[in-house]
Formats: sequence, structure tokens, C-alpha cells
Amino acid sequence: MSQQIIIFDTTLRDGEQSLQASLNVKEKLQIAFALERLGVDIMEVGFPISSPGDFESVRTIAKQIKNSLVCALARCVDKDIDIAAEALKVAKNFRIHIFLPTSTVHIQSKLNKNFNQIIEMTIHAIHYARKYTDDIEFSCEDAGRTTIDNLCRIVEIAIQSGASTINIPDTVGYTIPNQFGQIIASLYNRVPIIDKAIISVHCHNDLGMAVGNAISAIQAGARQIEGTINGIGERAGNTALEEVIMAIKVREDLLNVHTNIHCQEIYRTSQVISQLCNMPIPANKAIVGSNAFSHSSGIHQDGVLKNRKNYEIMTPESIGLKDIKLNLTSRSGRAAVKYHMQAMGYQESDYDMDKLYDVFLELADKKGQVFDYDLEALAFINNQQEQSEFFRLKCFNVHSSSSGIATALVKLYCGEKICAYSATGNGPIDAIYEALTHITKLSINLEKYQLNAKGNGRNALGQVDIVVSYEGRNFHGVGLDTDVIESSVKAMIHVLNNIWRAKQVIIQRKYLQKDNH
Ligand code: KIV
Ligand code: ZN
Repeated sequence: MSQQIIIFDTTLRDGEQSLQASLNVKEKLQIAFALERLGVDIMEVGFPISSPGDFESVRTIAKQIKNSLVCALARCVDKDIDIAAEALKVAKNFRIHIFLPTSTVHIQSKLNKNFNQIIEMTIHAIHYARKYTDDIEFSCEDAGRTTIDNLCRIVEIAIQSGASTINIPDTVGYTIPNQFGQIIASLYNRVPIIDKAIISVHCHNDLGMAVGNAISAIQAGARQIEGTINGIGERAGNTALEEVIMAIKVREDLLNVHTNIHCQEIYRTSQVISQLCNMPIPANKAIVGSNAFSHSSGIHQDGVLKNRKNYEIMTPESIGLKDIKLNLTSRSGRAAVKYHMQAMGYQESDYDMDKLYDVFLELADKKGQVFDYDLEALAFINNQQEQSEFFRLKCFNVHSSSSGIATALVKLYCGEKICAYSATGNGPIDAIYEALTHITKLSINLEKYQLNAKGNGRNALGQVDIVVSYEGRNFHGVGLDTDVIESSVKAMIHVLNNIWRAKQVIIQRKYLQKDNH
């Protein structure tokens, strides 16, 4: 019988740490729900010692997620482990993932230690973490460049000390599939108690080998694969989980293993993550790219029409990709909107029907027909821009022409107050952003501005994604509208509210600290 491969998702930890702007708690929770629906066995959702925001997100997700095991990262430091356990303890079961470098280069030049000290730290940290849970994963950071003798030694000691999962990361994406498979095979041959733990792999993609290495590791006996959706992660990213999952499914004949993933959720999960993380998916990306199931050349098209199997090794339906339907108009009722959301796989708890219906009607009035992908975009973006936000747009007016500078007048609700300001700029968006920053008095820098069409032709919606830096941190905002200037305004207001919320957390913390003294 085929054995199960455990899918360990680290989109919200390794993936998130590589984003230009960190996600807020609500966005992380949305991703966590999508991953839960996808059926990942374990989700690593943060590194709680790294910031109060990370701690809060780990705690919130650990409280809400019931069907996947929630995990958090810690260094081999008592305080890290205490804080990780504190964030996770709201969950019924949880995993603590601790890591320590094992390659000579990391041990000497990062930690200024020797291998014996690494062994001692490993034993201590695993014993210490076992105070909180029996589910301990230990990672040998930079295992891909660790000598095989040292790797076997530390893996044996980590298992003896009580780690139930041993992770072998190729932290810098240095190995190639045959070599990486041999590392795993050596562990099975040389560590006598290897069968007391699950062997996991975590591959980075610097040489484009991450998925190949993961598959090779499976063939050598690894039973847990770590990675992220769409392959996001440090530098060139991580193992793209959707690729491994579909490779396992399509080539079960060869690999003789299976996962418990609901593959029909793959496409939607990938879209949600791309959207919220502001990480577009290349058109030719395997499994989830927009071209992954489209056939261009005449010979291919002819072949597919005769028999899809001529050029398709899996169907688009197998990852949940359906044909785009249209037929929602301003005459459609809530039931139709709900039906379309359901058909795309969304439950009513994923979105706020009242808000979605309001913005749907607004869009239907402007556009006539609303497509499934419009509705999906509205549900997400609308989710992020609530009426209860501190900054809300009342109205704006812009004037721009081919000769001369642009001017803008913006009226903004700041809490209950309405504030207005007129500004000039090198274009209408610049003028509006000038007015908004003047009103909010937040000294921000626009780092990135990106405009994409959602949908086709003149009917498309304009989606604006911006990244703004404020006091050393980056914030992401997104806006969607038929009018690209309005999308730009919405994106900036979204960012300003994110900054405002982050400031409230800091003020609250300072207040509590004062109270404790
Ligand atoms: O790449 C890596 O080595 C990691 C570890 C923390 C598992 O992300
Ligand atoms: Zn990593």
C-alpha cells in the first residue's frame, strides 16, 4: 500500500518572511483558512520571538485552525521556545520547530562555535521544548552543506533527545537531486534509530532544484515535505508545494506514495496567496500559471481536441480550475452571488455577504456584467477595506491635462472628522497621494506602485498594489475599481489604515508596559 507524505506548509513563515511588506493578522488568518481547506497536515505560521505582530498572528491562527496542526519556529534558545509555546498553547495540539545550523561555515562564521557545542545546544533545546509538547521538529540548518558524518551524528542525537521529526533543509539551494537523495539515503543507512522519527526535507530553489530535490528525497525515504504555495520564500523561494503534490498524484505509479491534500483547492489557494502576498504568478509557472493548461500551437490544439490526453497529463479540473462564467448583472440577487461564490469553492464564512453584495451592485452598475473572477477579487479586496476603518474616502476630484501639472482635492474621514486638502503633483495619482499624506500627517515613502488588469479588455477592473515604507517598515495596500485613479486612492487608504492600526498596537503596548511598572 502506498505510504502518506505529510505536507508541511511554511507559506506563513518562510514565505511571509520574504515579502516586501508583512501581512497583517487578518490576511494571515485568511491564508491559514485557505491552507486548512486545502488540507495541509501541518502549517508553520510564524516565528513568535521575532516581533509582537508575529506572536499575535501565531496565537490567533492557533486558536482558529482545527484541522491542520499549527506549528511555530524557535531558535535553540530557551526564551524563543517559551514564547513559541506561549503563542501556540491556545491550540489543542501544536508543534514546536527548533533549528540550529550544522554546516561548518554557519557554525563558525554565524555562531562562532564548534560542532560539540552545537550538539550540547541541540540536546538542551529539545529537552527544554519537550516541557511543552511531545511534537518537536528539529532542523539541521544548512544540512545540504553539512558533512555526512556530522549530519548522521546530530540526527541520531536529536532523535535520542526526543525530536519526533527531523528536518533536513537545503537552506541555500546548493544540492542537486541525485546528491540530495543520497544524503537522505545515507541517514537511513547510517542512523540506527532513524525509524523513530519522520524524516522531512525543506529545499530552497536557488538553482531551480527545490521540487526535484524534494521528489528525490521522497524516493530515498523522506516522508514529510516542507514548502510553500507558489514556491514563495527566501531569495529564489522554497519547494512549490502544489508542484510536489501534483507530481505525487500524477506519478503515483512511480513514487508509490500519496498525500491527503484536496487537490481541487490548489488553484484557489494559489490565487488567494498570490493576491494577499502581492506576489504575481508567472504565466508559465507549473500547475498554477495562467498558461499551465492552455495550448497554443496548431498541432497541440488539434491534438487536444482529438483527445485531451495527447497533451494533458492532468486536467485543469483536478486542481479546481473551472471555466470562467459570466451572467451576473445588477439584476442578480444575493442568491446568485452566493451561488457563484459557492461554485468557486467559497463558504459564506469566508466573506461578508452584505458588504460583498453592496460592492457587487456598485460594480455591476459600472460594468454591466460581472465575472466570477471580479467577484472573487471583490470578496478579497473588499474584505480588507472595511467600513470601520479609521480613514475612509468621502470624495476626490482631480484635474490633469497633457500640458501642466495635475491638481487634486481629497476629502477624507479621519475617524468621525472630515478633513480636506488640495495638492498638486506630476500626475493625478501623485497629486492625490500628496493630499492624502498631508491630511494624515504620516510621513511615508512610496516604494512600489503596480497596476494590473483583472479580467479582459475594456471590461477589466484595475487592481493597484502599492508598497509604502513608514518608519523602517513596509506596508502593502491594494485597491480595485473600474477607475484606476480610484483604485490608486483605495490602495493608499488601505495602506494608511494598516499603518494606523500598527501604530495603535505600539501605543497600546507602551501603555500596558507603563501600567506594569
Ligand atoms: O531554510 C532553512 O534552513 C529554514 C529552517 C529554519 C528550517 O527555513
Ligand atoms: Zn527555509
